[in-house]
Amino acid sequence: MPERPRLVIASGNTGKLREYRDLLSGAGVDLVAFDSEVDEVGETYAENAKLKADGAASRSGLASLGDDSGLEVEVLGGFPGIRSARLGPTQQERTAELLRRLEGMPRPWKARFVCVMALAIPRSETRFFEGECRGEVVPEWRGEAGFGYDPIFLVPGTGKTFGEMPPEEKRKYSHRAAAARALLESGALQRLSD
Ligand code: IMP
Repeated sequence: MPERPRLVIASGNTGKLREYRDLLSGAGVDLVAFDSEVDEVGETYAENAKLKADGAASRSGLASLGDDSGLEVEVLGGFPGIRSARLGPTQQERTAELLRRLEGMPRPWKARFVCVMALAIPRSETRFFEGECRGEVVPEWRGEAGFGYDPIFLVPGTGKTFGEMPPEEKRKYSHRAAAARALLESGALQRLSD
């Protein structure tokens, strides 16, 4: 049997890695986790995703996928956005800090999650894939599933936060699942086996 191509997922975030194993399970590639530990110094999601993907591709010599994501809250003018990972040293503190900044603001706290993926293939142009999920931030933490800001992100029409959804339900709505669909539909991963 021909060997399956390998795809590096440039992340050290176990929540993200778990989702990638699920979202790309039918993609015909073997996933390898590698945290390129780059500083997120870009000014856009795409720049940061590219920094992660390029860092992993140049160190591993393999096709690498980087992902930068964020939560944008309308009443905060899109904050924290690309600064979502920098609101505090732990995720618990980041979530608490976001809720602290929202205290007293008129509800609903409309928000969206954004995910931009960069696919870096050695000796090829880096390609980008995007997904978003619109919803609302709620003041109480609900559910233990998922990761990051999932327990405070309510998905319209479901009555549930991402924290209350099993993975197969989150993937119907999530920004990362939407970006992964765009990646799969592009055919870029099939070309890794050519
Ligand atoms: P980064 O994309 O690794 O820079 O993550 C940005 C921030 O958003 C971190 O605090 C993540 O935990 C959080 N985050 C990223 N994706 C998700 C998600 O799917 N659900 C909830 N939080 C997320």
